[in-house]
Amino acid sequence: MSSRYEKISAALLGAGTVGGGVYRLLKKRKDEMPFKIQAELEISRVLVRNPGKKREGIPQEILTDDWEGILKDPKIRIVIELMGGIEPARTYILQALEAGKHVVTANKDLMAAHGRELMDAAQRHHCDLQFEAAVGGGIPIIRPLKECLAGNEITEVMGIVNGTTNYILTRMTEDGMDFAEALKKAQELGFAEADPTSDIEGLDAGRKMAILASIAFHSRVTFQDVDVKGITKITAKDIQYAKEFGYTLKLLGVARNTDGEMEVGVFPMMIPSSHPLAHVKDAFNAVFVHGDAVDDAMFQGKGAGEMPTASAVMGDLIAVARNMQYGCCGRIGCSCYRDLPMKASGESRHRYFLRLIVEDRTGILAGVAGVLGNNNVSINQVIQKPAVGGVAELVVITDKVEKRHLKDALVIFGEMSMIREVASVIRVYSQRQGDDLL
Ligand code: NAP
Ligand code: HSE
Repeated sequence: MSSRYEKISAALLGAGTVGGGVYRLLKKRKDEMPFKIQAELEISRVLVRNPGKKREGIPQEILTDDWEGILKDPKIRIVIELMGGIEPARTYILQALEAGKHVVTANKDLMAAHGRELMDAAQRHHCDLQFEAAVGGGIPIIRPLKECLAGNEITEVMGIVNGTTNYILTRMTEDGMDFAEALKKAQELGFAEADPTSDIEGLDAGRKMAILASIAFHSRVTFQDVDVKGITKITAKDIQYAKEFGYTLKLLGVARNTDGEMEVGVFPMMIPSSHPLAHVKDAFNAVFVHGDAVDDAMFQGKGAGEMPTASAVMGDLIAVARNMQYGCCGRIGCSCYRDLPMKASGESRHRYFLRLIVEDRTGILAGVAGVLGNNNVSINQVIQKPAVGGVAELVVITDKVEKRHLKDALVIFGEMSMIREVASVIRVYSQRQGDDLL
């Protein structure tokens, strides 16, 4: 029996963790589509590298490795890119837009590096290019920033935007699991990228922060502008000290627009254990946004994994289908209408946790304090642990200091024979200027 509804066909590029999830979720919601979008919505082709391989729930006959066939099929009006990486994803998306097909993608690597080129192409061809799943997995954050918060001057976006590293740090903190075991578990759960280096070295979070900052501050930030440090050097000892000082270790992304200068970074950070972000565990993500009208708003949810990410992709797919039905595609394109400069990174001010392995003899504390003092690094707290095997551990938490001053002090530490090793340098959370909670 033929349906009275128009059929909108989409092609899925990629049938891995997210692609497989999207296919299954659309199948589950299929009967509701006519009520939601006054049309039927189907995935008619699925592009993969290996079409011979069985994919749970996806009929074998719609699997293909023929991109040209999808591109030339006039019935396919939406392309859902879930392959990941830069190429061939960039070329396929540009070709799809040129052919008048709308695009949904979860590809943060691509959007962070080539966002402007892709958004411009979408605008030129009056097409939708939606990428809600690129940041925060299932959490709605792109559309809220572009639409619901459009009346604000946003000055800060901060949060936990990588599920893999948050999962690893949670398991290390709560179960004493070691790094490698926690990473393996995150990979099994489908949170990690194809190459997990981009998760654990902070690159994935850096790309997401570039996307968020571009949208929040209306000024293009690319991955190259982001100061990035991952969690590979974090040890069980650092986590233990964080607990002793009343902190929890998290990988945080911070983007600030201070008086028209932007700074965007991703760093392991010690945050007070009472802070709401300290309670965001496992693969959950959370993003704080500060706007002049809304004040503080927080978005929280599952930041990675099959179904949470499929949820965001499906939301985009339905939004595109609705726009198609109402003839208003390409309505919200690139929102970067400013060209703000990045703040020089040496000038940014932070508090730091320093863990030094030092010789166990008199005068060490005075020597360390002297170097810090001479370089304008003022000490907030210090503890020394009893010596084992002739070496002691000295832990210092500084006040807010300029990064370049700390760098100078660290160079001198490196030349002092009494300091065997600067084992850790980790940022300690400090509030926005003007707040006095810390
Ligand atoms: P994945 O499990 O590695 O799946 C990738 C899929 O793309 C596979 O089916 C693969 O085909 C196909 N593919 C890759 N390169 C291809 C090519 N050149 N031609 C045709 N097919 C190709 O990846 P994923 O975890 O689903 O991630 C997909 C995208 O979503 C990435 O951009 C990722 O960053 C993003 N994302 C992932 C998550 C998450 O939690 N996993 C969350 C948010 C966003 P074969 O199966 O034949 O190899
Ligand atoms: N690898 C990413 C993460 C997937 O762990 O957050 C979600 O973007």
